[in-house]
Amino acid sequence: MELALIYTCQGLELQESAPAGGKTHSRLHVDFNSAQLRYRLRHGGGIRQPLARAIGIKPGHRPTIADATAGLGIDGFIFAALGCQVTLIERSPVLAALLSDGLSRLRHDPQSSDISQRLSLHCGNALDLLGQLPERPETIYLDPMYPKQEKAALNKQEMRLIRTLVGDDHDAGHLLDRALTIACERVVVKRPKRAGELTSTRPSHAIHMKNSRYDVYLIRSSNGA
Ligand SMILES: C[S@@+](CC[C@H](N)C(=O)[O-])C[C@H]1O[C@@H](n2cnc3c(N)ncnc32)[C@H](O)[C@@H]1O
Repeated sequence: MELALIYTCQGLELQESAPAGGKTHSRLHVDFNSAQLRYRLRHGGGIRQPLARAIGIKPGHRPTIADATAGLGIDGFIFAALGCQVTLIERSPVLAALLSDGLSRLRHDPQSSDISQRLSLHCGNALDLLGQLPERPETIYLDPMYPKQEKAALNKQEMRLIRTLVGDDHDAGHLLDRALTIACERVVVKRPKRAGELTSTRPSHAIHMKNSRYDVYLIRSSNGA
């Protein structure tokens, strides 16, 4: 598959440059103002939605979050919209460029400037970067690539492009082990509904949804924080 990064009037886009069989161009573009995201913000359940409960949001408590598998930044954006300070980490330079472009447009949107101020982006491997953050995050969130056959939240075309760029996250178990030594309060891993746990460490509990679940690892030793 041939991919091209191009600027359009809507910003930076990754496009499949010559789709086989005259199919329509698949594209990846980060738009934090999309109708879909706005709808999710209004009707997604606020601090009662499973994602918010999984990462430890409670009335009066907004944990600091490192989203160590930022991808297109959708989950990270939801955390920031719910009031959390969020560090996004993405190791694919192409996805990080798309994210950076989406964030800069968000910063120029007067209605969302408070959300954008709570988001910062680092491009690199979270296995290295998590230990270099100026402060240890209360929650570390991991959403590694699902195995190919599993149904993911993003649409099929987006997922095909992301998979072409980043492949499988075979080191996700190492990332969980690393995160467990750094987070102050919890580590949360998004998994396909029926998949096993990422490592032999058992989660404290899980929050189940229709096609996926969040494995929640509470840090009981407080990691010296
Ligand atoms: C399924 S996507 C995440 C989707 C994201 N939660 C969202 O809302 O858009 C997984 C992403 O994690 C990134 N990733 C996996 N392991 C990583 C690591 N060790 N460091 C940084 N990024 C990583 C991959 O490059 C990929 O973009």
